[in-house]
Amino acid sequence: MSDSHLTRRGILGTGVALTALRRTGALADEPGAAESPRASQESAMIDVAITVNGAQHRLGLDPRTSLLDALRNHLGLTATKKGCDHGQCGACTVLVDGVRRNSCLNLAVACDGREIVTIEGLGSEQTLHPMQAAFVAHDAFQCGYCTPGQICSAVGMLSEIERGLPSAATADIAADTMQVAESEIRERMSGNICRCAAYPNIVAAILEAAGKTTG
Ligand code: FES
Ligand code: FES
Repeated sequence: MSDSHLTRRGILGTGVALTALRRTGALADEPGAAESPRASQESAMIDVAITVNGAQHRLGLDPRTSLLDALRNHLGLTATKKGCDHGQCGACTVLVDGVRRNSCLNLAVACDGREIVTIEGLGSEQTLHPMQAAFVAHDAFQCGYCTPGQICSAVGMLSEIERGLPSAATADIAADTMQVAESEIRERMSGNICRCAAYPNIVAAILEAAGKTTG
């Protein structure tokens, strides 16, 4: 067939046929054709070393694995919740080197060498973290689905205030010290959605954990 007889449909058809032959291994003499999809997938795995709640782990992960999936599916730490998986609800919040992060938006490979703390590592049943104790004392949850993310986020948020990082609610960004005001808490926690709307109690719990009284 001369070039002038090549049609778009013909080219597409040839491409589909070649793909099918490659999948069945019929094109064995083609470079790389003998490698099965599984083998190539395995060779694409990347070694990731992370410390989670004080324990060191080495994981062989698909480079596309999110930190959230690594925690839940590979390490069995299912207290960190998957809500939207799109960075919109905050249910998956964990601390990475002390900074709050949406674990669904972070690739596990990007956390290589880092220290992760999840809600399981903040406190224990016997000794709750002060933020966990304040959430219990103030009844700051209903279904509890968002609670692990809320608590991790609140811990990270108080540390941001302590380090003097301003928010959109900060009136004087040049001030030496920053106040843990209710307006600051509401603004800084706005990335953590609670579908039960336990917000007033969440704010009260955070104020208490920050050493304030809610009256
Ligand atoms: S699951 Fe990560 S922000 Fe919603
Ligand atoms: S307590 Fe139910 S979503 Fe927040």
